[in-house]
Amino acid sequence: MEKREIIFEGNEKQVFATDDQDQVIFRYKDVTVAYNNVKRARFKGKGALDNQISAILLSYLNEHGVETHYIETLGEQEQLCRKIEIIPLQVVVHNRIAGSLAYRLGVPEGFRHENVIVDLRYNNDELEDPFINRDHAVALGLATYQELDRMYDIARRVNELLKPLFLQAGIELIDMKLEFGRASDSGAIIISDEISPDTCRLWDLETGERMDKDRFRLDLSRVVENYRNVLERLQKVIKS
Ligand code: TYD
Repeated sequence: MEKREIIFEGNEKQVFATDDQDQVIFRYKDVTVAYNNVKRARFKGKGALDNQISAILLSYLNEHGVETHYIETLGEQEQLCRKIEIIPLQVVVHNRIAGSLAYRLGVPEGFRHENVIVDLRYNNDELEDPFINRDHAVALGLATYQELDRMYDIARRVNELLKPLFLQAGIELIDMKLEFGRASDSGAIIISDEISPDTCRLWDLETGERMDKDRFRLDLSRVVENYRNVLERLQKVIKS
């Protein structure tokens, strides 16, 4: 497999074409951004950690019947993925209320609720990823109602699989953002992008300490150290 030209350059990732038209290479950068790109920094080693954590979680999902775009890891910061047609939506699953949702609903961060909350956002930097509903998504032609049903079902299934996996690692999965695409061969809805401490809130089960991107957002110390801790704990669980 041959790496070809760059086809997408984001803040935190690059995507390269390959000699196979159905496959792309994702490269995780050491750059991190927050608050719609207002806050930005470089953390040496973070790209490699995100690459490895995402690889563990995406292959765990593949092995448990949830199709993702992940194929295999190629190098420290690179993974081979299926090429998909991007659906510009974010499906956000909350097990406990944190971040901007706490502000929106007027409850303290960490608020506990029995049900799982699923939010939908339009992936659009210019509009700052606004919250939308299914009707908006269909009106904009982003997805059909049937596809949205499928995305919600998959998001809940991913949560049912990853929540206990993180628990075994002594980590509480507070929330996570998922993105989807259409497989270029079958058109099936599959998980794309990454699942990592950049896209999840992860709290240490015992201490409640944040082990995710909030360390950067909130100017807490030891960003990379916490990501490494997440990786090492997941590696231990996967091996056992
Ligand atoms: P959400 O409650 O939608 O927004 P906020 O980060 O403002 O609280 O986010 C929940 C989770 O989704 C959180 O772990 C961060 C992640 N997320 C992303 O990875 N990318 C994004 O563009 C957004 C809006 C959220």
